[in-house]
Amino acid sequence: MEKRQKIYEGKAKILYTTDDPDRIIQYFKDDATAFNAQKKGTIQEKGILNNRISSRLFTYLEERGIRTHFMRQLSDREMLVKTLQIVPVEVVVRNIIAGSLAQRMGMPEGGDLKLPVLEFYYKKDELGDPMINESHIAAFDLAKPQEISVIREVALAVNRHLTAFFEERGILLVDFKLEFGRHKGEILLGDEITPDGCRLWDRVTREKMDKDRFRRDLGKVEEAYQEVYRRVCQS
Ligand code: TMP
Ligand code: ASP
Repeated sequence: MEKRQKIYEGKAKILYTTDDPDRIIQYFKDDATAFNAQKKGTIQEKGILNNRISSRLFTYLEERGIRTHFMRQLSDREMLVKTLQIVPVEVVVRNIIAGSLAQRMGMPEGGDLKLPVLEFYYKKDELGDPMINESHIAAFDLAKPQEISVIREVALAVNRHLTAFFEERGILLVDFKLEFGRHKGEILLGDEITPDGCRLWDRVTREKMDKDRFRRDLGKVEEAYQEVYRRVCQS
């Protein structure tokens, strides 16, 4: 697989074309941003840990019938994925009240929800990714109604599989963000699944083991990513 040119550089990843138009290389950086890039920093070795964590989680999901863009890990910081036409919608699934949901509802973090909450955000950095609903997605033709229903069902299935996976490793999956794209007419799970885009709390101490440590200046950021890596990839 020959790496060709850089086609996109985001906050945490770089994408490269390959000699095959159906395949791209996802490179994981150590850069971290928060609050729509108003806060910037680096988390040592994050790219390496996130590449491994994401590879493990995509493999686990594929084994359970979830269709993803993941093909294989290529190197410390690179994975080979299927080329996607990204659906410009960020999908958030929540199991516990935290973050912007806690703010919006005026509730403390940590409270239980009767059911998982599914939220959609329009993927548009200039606008700060505003929240939208399924009728906006259909009315603005961001995805076809059939695609929206696949995305909804797959997001909830991913939540069930990952909740069980993390539970076995002593981690509470509080919430997480997914992105989807089209590949040869099929909707696939894309992007990454890492502590950058998930809230992960230790089940016993409820200590935060994710990017909130960076966002909120809680310290021990690298240690938290290392610990997630250890529990996800080595147990
Ligand atoms: P929120 O509570 O800030 O809305 O975040 C919900 C989840 O989505 C949390 O696990 C972090 C993740 N997330 C991202 O990955 N990217 C984002 O831009 C935002 C706002 C949240
Ligand atoms: N949206 C990402 C986050 O806070 C990064 C960013 O907003 O710059 O997780």
